[in-house]
Amino acid sequence: MNNLLRSVGGYLMNRQAVRHRVIQGIFMGIFVLLLLVPAGCTKKAEEGKTTLHFVTWKPNIPEAWEEIYSIFRAEHPDIELVRETGPHSSTAFHDLLTQKLKNRSEDVDVFLMDVIWPPEFAAAGWAAPLDEMFAPSERKEFLEGAILANSYNGKIYGVPLFIDSGILYYRRDLLEKYGFKPPRTWQEMVEQAEKITAGEAGKGVEIYGFSGQFKQYEGLVCDMMEYILSNGGNIINPKTGKSGIAEKPAVEAVRFVRDNIIGKIAPAGVLTYQEPESLDLFIQGKAVFHRNWPYAWEVSNNPKRSTIAGKVGIARLPHFPGGRSYSTLGGWQAGISSYSKNKEAAWTFVKFLTSERIQKLLALKAGRAPTRKKLYGDAEILKAYPHFSGMKDVFLTAYPRPRTPLYPAVSNVLQRYFSKAISDPSSDIEKEALSASQEIDRLLSLAK
Ligand code: GLC
Repeated sequence: MNNLLRSVGGYLMNRQAVRHRVIQGIFMGIFVLLLLVPAGCTKKAEEGKTTLHFVTWKPNIPEAWEEIYSIFRAEHPDIELVRETGPHSSTAFHDLLTQKLKNRSEDVDVFLMDVIWPPEFAAAGWAAPLDEMFAPSERKEFLEGAILANSYNGKIYGVPLFIDSGILYYRRDLLEKYGFKPPRTWQEMVEQAEKITAGEAGKGVEIYGFSGQFKQYEGLVCDMMEYILSNGGNIINPKTGKSGIAEKPAVEAVRFVRDNIIGKIAPAGVLTYQEPESLDLFIQGKAVFHRNWPYAWEVSNNPKRSTIAGKVGIARLPHFPGGRSYSTLGGWQAGISSYSKNKEAAWTFVKFLTSERIQKLLALKAGRAPTRKKLYGDAEILKAYPHFSGMKDVFLTAYPRPRTPLYPAVSNVLQRYFSKAISDPSSDIEKEALSASQEIDRLLSLAK
């Protein structure tokens, strides 16, 4: 019994000793950890690594961007670049980014900004003014329109990375085969498309006449604005400062798109197309004409991605009789969050990204039109993109969307109106235009 007690006691003693040792071990562990954590921090501080969060979108040519990031990493080992990739659509990307900025998220230092956002981001206090870093002498190196787009109330909020402007792409081989020159008017484009698709159908080749961006999102506003302006209409009438979309030239242009383009020379599916889907149709050889931004040249002539490489022509967008050609001004800027705790590193990255060297890389490898004037005379770029010199004018005269902090709200009204007007053949365009117009005027009066 005693033995038993002793052994039980010994066992309990042992357990106590073991527990004691375990507790001792835990304390030691915590102690070691406490020693290690500051050591780790010190190491980090010693290395001076700054983590920089960059919110960007899904690129069309990821390889070019990977190259850019690896150059930056190699040249700036002190900055840990963390990327967050948002959706391709400008509208969806805007929602993601503004949500973060509204929450003063620490996961945003640098972000890409659509050309239509600087007034909104400035007025909301989300984008940091860059005046102290982005010197006026440096701004002179950039296209004026791009600098203007980044300015708000006398301050500058973004550095232009690349510029976009609407371009007409066409199947040069097919136009030549049918004896056509690139169309000057939209009506001519429709006629040519109809003749070519009918001719090809006779040979068993299925091809549509046109593809563009007609889904309800920001791209729809860009495309529709080109029809409206090229008919002498306006989104905002510059004389009155009020909505121009219910005026006759604007209404007629919208009607033209509904009656002649959607489900006619373009498949009805374009109502769900953003840039990538519309370009896919073209590079699969399934569309004669295509409206897109400058990058589509690289993609459609890249034999790895396109079945029509070498058969692509490029021209100004058509216009209506009596009107002239207009391209919507697009493009992306690099901005810095007001809430960033790493503004210095953020500026290092912005300066790098928008530098001549990186813009040249983006031009050569991703077909992006530079915002730095000098690059329009660059021999290598002109060799790769001979049209950059002929089309320079198109880039320089591209027409901006309304410049107001309330633009996203205005665009939302436009998107709903255009989408309804072109997709529902029974919709009363005049009536819809009038009600959208009134809504826009109400919004604009709020901004005054
Ligand atoms: C391009 C343009 C941008 C525009 C968007 C619409 O990304 O650069 O300005 O808002 O297309 O889809």
